[in-house]
Amino acid sequence: MKAEILQALRNTKGYVSGQELCEKLGVSRTAVWKGMQKLKEEGYGIEAIPNKGYRLMESPDVLSAEELESIRRTAWAGNTIVYYEVTDSTNIQAKRLAEEGAPHGTLVIAERQEAGRGRRGRAWESAEHEGIFMTILLRPEFEPQKASMLTIVAAMAVTKAIRTMLTVPAEIKWPNDIILNGKKICGILTEMDTEIDAINYVVIGIGINVSNRQFGKEAAEIATSIAIESGMQIHRAELIETVWEWFEVYYDRFCKDGSLEGIQDEYNVWLVNQGKQVRILDPKEPFTGVAKGITKTGELIVETEEGRKQVSSGEVSVRGIYGYV
Ligand code: BTN
Repeated sequence: MKAEILQALRNTKGYVSGQELCEKLGVSRTAVWKGMQKLKEEGYGIEAIPNKGYRLMESPDVLSAEELESIRRTAWAGNTIVYYEVTDSTNIQAKRLAEEGAPHGTLVIAERQEAGRGRRGRAWESAEHEGIFMTILLRPEFEPQKASMLTIVAAMAVTKAIRTMLTVPAEIKWPNDIILNGKKICGILTEMDTEIDAINYVVIGIGINVSNRQFGKEAAEIATSIAIESGMQIHRAELIETVWEWFEVYYDRFCKDGSLEGIQDEYNVWLVNQGKQVRILDPKEPFTGVAKGITKTGELIVETEEGRKQVSSGEVSVRGIYGYV
């Protein structure tokens, strides 16, 4: 009910009367009134004027399923939203839901994670109200070998969303860290379950540092937040919605082409390593060269003294020769 009331308030310019709400939602005046009270308790600023009706003045920065559903603009991403105040990890929950048969597009969101996971077995700081912790469940029909490219698709969606919504020059450190002013604001962890010739499911977990002011010892050197770098306080639900809107655009292009062909040029423009000296931390054979963008299958092209090399993600990581980027 709360979601429907919110949606009706959002879709109405000016005031919507109690009577209109009752008719539209097919419920009693008392039910509408109760819904309004609940929304007010959660921090929504709702003006109520006798003989005129209700008007939404202000939305709090909450991530509830109702809030997200009421601003939903996507076609399929987030068609089912599962929200937790606290969970272990949204990736763990998304995988559990996948095993239980949840549909393509299911979005898991948490206000706080107690066991947030990063790449290479690291932890991901997940304090409440400071960040966005979300995972989407996909059931793609393409071959398993292509699934790792979805991380790049997701990195593009986050970068585009931050650029359009906040007009700050977010960049990408290959393959999928989102960078603002040389430091990391977002990490992506993709996990999948596959057969030899088919994907059962893929989960893409995204962690965005929104209003963090400080970080633990491990992250402090490389991490930053949108608030620190831009001074802006953002409405997290709106950023989430914008991310998934762009994800649909890039995902459709990726599925149509069967590769990153249609999006690689834009990725290369945002690539923070582009044209710069990078150190490839290959456990077997580390080397240095100049980054020249990605291939249509997501490898990083590096020009070295011995010629061009293509680097696949996986166990390899990249550093700038003077630091993180
Ligand atoms: C990285 O190490 O850069 C990847 C970090 C991924 C963090 C996100 S937060 C939401 C989702 N749930 C997790 O446990 N991890 C991912």
